[in-house]
Parts: sequence; C-alpha cells; structure tokens
Amino acid sequence: MKSLNEIRLDFPAIPENEGLARMVVSAFLLPLNPTVEELADVKTAVSEAVTNAIVHGYAEREGVVRLRADYREDGLLTVDVCDRGCGIADVARARQPFFTTLEGEERSGMGFTVMESFMDGVEVKSAPNVGTTVRLTKRLLTREEPIARRA
Ligand SMILES: Nc1ncnc2c1ncn2[C@@H]1O[C@H](COP(=O)(O)OP(=O)(O)O)[C@@H](O)[C@H]1O
Ligand SMILES: [Mg+2]
Repeated sequence: MKSLNEIRLDFPAIPENEGLARMVVSAFLLPLNPTVEELADVKTAVSEAVTNAIVHGYAEREGVVRLRADYREDGLLTVDVCDRGCGIADVARARQPFFTTLEGEERSGMGFTVMESFMDGVEVKSAPNVGTTVRLTKRLLTREEPIARRA
C-alpha cells in the first residue's frame, strides 16, 4: 500500500519536547481530516511513548528520541517512537497494567495500557542497553473514500 506522507523528527530527550511531539503528530494528521476523537487518541498514545523514552529509556541522561510517522492511502497511520536508552528486559511484564519501575514518582504503570486502548496496534521492540522502539498503528476508520481522492 502506498505511503502518502512521511516525517522524521529527532529531538533531545527532555520533557519540554513531549508537547512538541504531540503537536507535530497532530499537525501531521490534519490533512486526513481526523475526528476530534482520533486526534486525541493519537496524541495521547504518542505522548505516553515519548514520555517513556525520556523518563525510562534515558532516565535523566542525555539522549535523542526519534519520531517517525507515515500514513497510507487506506488511512493506516503508523508512528514509531525510538530511543537508544536502557531498553526493557521483559517487555511482556512491562506491558502489564500497573507495572512500573518508577514507583512513587507519580507513574501509574498504565502507559502501555493507554497506548493499547487508544491505538489499534502497539508493537514493542527492545533490548537491554540497546534501546526501545514502540510502533503505534491506527486505522482511521472514518474515511468515506481513499484519502488520495479527497479534495
Ligand atoms: N522506552 C522505554 N525504555 C525503557 N523502559 C521502558 C520504556 N518504556 C517503558 N518502559 C518500562 O515499562 C514500564 C511500564 O511503562 P508504562 O506502562 O508506560 O508505565 P509507567 O511509565 O507509568 O511506569 C516502565 O515503568 C519501564 O520500566
Ligand atoms: Mg509511561
């Protein structure tokens, strides 16, 4: 399936850039005429993944978060959030509701659960000391006709 648009953005892993990533992804989606709900879902999920890269992946250390997004003519949106931080030893355990390694620091352990509930797909590739890539996918179901043919 043909990709209609693709962006890549590298930014320093600092909390100020969580909002930047949300804004970039929502601006990227606007040509698809997303619903308010679709936009909110994607922004929330991307925000969780970017926050995780910053607070867990790099955990106060310097680093770069890489955001890549594309959408296809059938309305499938893919967003990859990638860090070269500490990685996750046990991904299945990390994805369980309420699991967190930052207990007591206002982390709920619900980040992956939130991503799963707002997106159609959440894939996690991770290796200790190599880093983590979270792939979020969502099919924007409200399209009446292929995006390429919309005015
Ligand atoms: N990018 C990442 N790098 C390293 N560890 C991560 C990353 N993302 C998530 N984790 C691990 O998975 C756990 C669960 O993540 P999440 O569900 O977002 O909950 P929370 O962020 O509240 O801890 C984190 O506590 C952390 O141990
Ligand atoms: Mg989290």
